[in-house]
Amino acid sequence: MQTPTNKRILSGIQPSGILHIGNYFGAIRQYINLQENNEGLYFVANYHAMTSLQNRQDLMDYSMMVAVDYLALGLDPEKAILFMQSDVPEVTELAWMLSTVTPMGLLERSHAYKDKINKGLSANHGLFAYPVLMAADILIYDSDFVPVGKDQKQHLEMTRDMAEKFNFAYGEELLKLPEEYILSSVAVVPGVDGQKMSKSYDNTIEIFASKKAMKKKVMGIVTDSTPLEDPKDPDNSTIVDLYKLFATPAEVEKMRENFLAGGYGYGHGKKELLNKINEHFEPHRQKREELINNLDYVGEVLKEGALKARERATVVMDRVRNASGVQRFC
Ligand code: ADP
Ligand code: TRP
Repeated sequence: MQTPTNKRILSGIQPSGILHIGNYFGAIRQYINLQENNEGLYFVANYHAMTSLQNRQDLMDYSMMVAVDYLALGLDPEKAILFMQSDVPEVTELAWMLSTVTPMGLLERSHAYKDKINKGLSANHGLFAYPVLMAADILIYDSDFVPVGKDQKQHLEMTRDMAEKFNFAYGEELLKLPEEYILSSVAVVPGVDGQKMSKSYDNTIEIFASKKAMKKKVMGIVTDSTPLEDPKDPDNSTIVDLYKLFATPAEVEKMRENFLAGGYGYGHGKKELLNKINEHFEPHRQKREELINNLDYVGEVLKEGALKARERATVVMDRVRNASGVQRFC
């Protein structure tokens, strides 16, 4: 589909761990591109992270680090609105209201919920109601588009369902149904073990790992034991797949030829990949250092962002309270 322009774009990332290159190519890079010709609202989903993270210090550190990383990777507070989810508490109020029209069956069909339970997370109500809070995040800003990875598609469909039910009860067009916008430029980024890169699989390459840790991770990419002199298959290689994200088509072609020719070890490929990753993130690494040394500035950006986000959320909440008969006396 065409890249949106002049639209309200909204997306969030949970601060449930340290961001990795799957998050970057699958999500963050697109947010940053979309900030140019749209109104971008990007937030740190700290209420959502509470469904899997129950440690005060970790939640605070990861939340701040996600904000820092967004900025270091190019999110420009002059162009987009960056804020912490919990700075707009109305979102939990709308989540409650939506929950009153959300059928249990809808939530019971959630793939993400079932996956998380299978991975051993405890089946608490927050985890079950996760899609309702996510729907509130989206609907409270009259969002036009929500760029997310494929794994979030069902959540967007549920959001549309909830909005329809709410509108059926309280008034047509009360809540704006977002259009779908699935990030399609990059498929799933593989982790060092060849599976989908994910915080939950312990197979990530962190965007801002130290140079030493980065080297260890990249050199540790799992390969088969084809001897150095033999030809290798570039079509089933995590090294080549990751290299494609950073290198030009001509550079990728050269690596493919090296694989096919033999006499080129996986170690050589890993070194080339490592150089590319380091080169790509170097300017962002410097920016990140500056931000970490100036967290007051990051706090200011979050404050400004929250004021703007809240102003927008208030418009929708007033409309919703009015239509549903929830009166306020102060
Ligand atoms: P994780 O699986 O590491 O917990 P999240 O679920 O927090 O990642 O994902 C945040 C965003 O990054 C989502 O929009 C998701 O689609 C995207 N994303 C996560 N992992 C990948 C990956 N390996 N490839 C592409 N996109 C990804
Ligand atoms: N569920 C999303 C994820 O795991 C994070 C998220 C929370 C989100 N609220 C949102 C994404 C609203 C887009 C819009 O990646």
